[in-house]
Amino acid sequence: MPVSSVSSAPETVSISLGERSYPIRIGSGLLCSPDSFADVPQASLAVIVSNTTVAPLYAQALRETLLGQHRQVELITLPDGESHKDWITLNLIFDDLLARGADRKTVLYALGGGVVGDMTGFAAASYMRGVPFVQVPTTLLAQVDSSVGGKTGINHPRGKNMIGAFYQPVCVVADLDTLSSLPARELRAGLAEVIKYGPIADADFLDWIDTHLDELLARDAAALRYAVRRCCEIKASVVGQDEREAGLRAILNFGHTFGHAIEAGLGYGNWLHGEAVGCGMAIAADVSARLGLLAENAAARLTGLIERAGLPVRGPALGAERYLQLMRLDKKAEAGEIKFVLLDAIGHAVLRGVPDDVLRRVLASRCG
Ligand code: NAD
Ligand code: GLY
Repeated sequence: MPVSSVSSAPETVSISLGERSYPIRIGSGLLCSPDSFADVPQASLAVIVSNTTVAPLYAQALRETLLGQHRQVELITLPDGESHKDWITLNLIFDDLLARGADRKTVLYALGGGVVGDMTGFAAASYMRGVPFVQVPTTLLAQVDSSVGGKTGINHPRGKNMIGAFYQPVCVVADLDTLSSLPARELRAGLAEVIKYGPIADADFLDWIDTHLDELLARDAAALRYAVRRCCEIKASVVGQDEREAGLRAILNFGHTFGHAIEAGLGYGNWLHGEAVGCGMAIAADVSARLGLLAENAAARLTGLIERAGLPVRGPALGAERYLQLMRLDKKAEAGEIKFVLLDAIGHAVLRGVPDDVLRRVLASRCG
């Protein structure tokens, strides 16, 4: 689709999950529009959960919008960073909610990137056994992926996102204007998750990204809007068919088995999540080609695109044994056998075990 044909009115993608269905609103100026939050249940108290970077930029605007809807709107400001996505920071949310007298009707608003979104969602899932929450994603990565689909949680030193819950928000409000303040490195990290949707589900979308990558990197508004919408459509369709990852939803983890090992192996926050996923997708494409599932030129094309997006395609030198040890903890592993999301064509993913000798060869050639 040519970017010029995209309208500027807010758009809504729906995620169909029976009584847990909700809208994903995508557009400009949404943070300041009460209509964006029309689905939120009545509650006298609302609590915005954000962090030290995002709160000074956007919390006041959101608070003013929400004061039309809630009598009292409070703010919890967490420390920023993946290294704080842990139970100590999670507990700060519970401490604050209890101190403010939050009850079962209190609505939480996650204002920030995927770290704030995942932690706020998990807090909402467990505070008083569940309170409503709204995702207000402010990074590209969060707008195209983490705010949608209800995976919430925290990291454990031994493994990424190991503690958590499936818990859906009441709506997602993705204000594209917030992407203007995003550091360039974070934008590129978000592009990793944008690219992901092409190889796993939509070859035409991968062609589109290939053609429009420079516009995306330059934050062209129409290009970003189209990319966010298409990614949310694909994710909504996958999650609508397999909310709790009994099978199909695993394709959304393309590149993540290697990526999570990189994040945990280096220490959370050294590589950004999107950087690790970008590199993980290049490694997974290589594995797919070595197993004869994917044509070598298709794997090379995907790797080239990841590189052009400014993302790493070679992993850090953790050593093959350490990679294997970390990957055996992956949530897709069954009885110690690691399952990988691989490609048997651009636009189609499969879940497979991979012999250790193949993994060792790939890791030796692509890492370090
Ligand atoms: P992040 O939340 O750490 O945000 C990246 C950085 O950008 C942070 O420093 C943040 O404060 C800052 N920031 C956020 N919005 C900004 C803005 N508009 N302007 C300026 N700075 C801004 O990282 P992320 O990439 O958004 O998310 C990564 C996390 O998401 C990881 O923990 C990952 O595991 C998780 N994730 C979850 C899912 C899911 O389905 N739940 C999917 C993908 C990723
Ligand atoms: N980001 C992976 C998932 O939502 O399943």
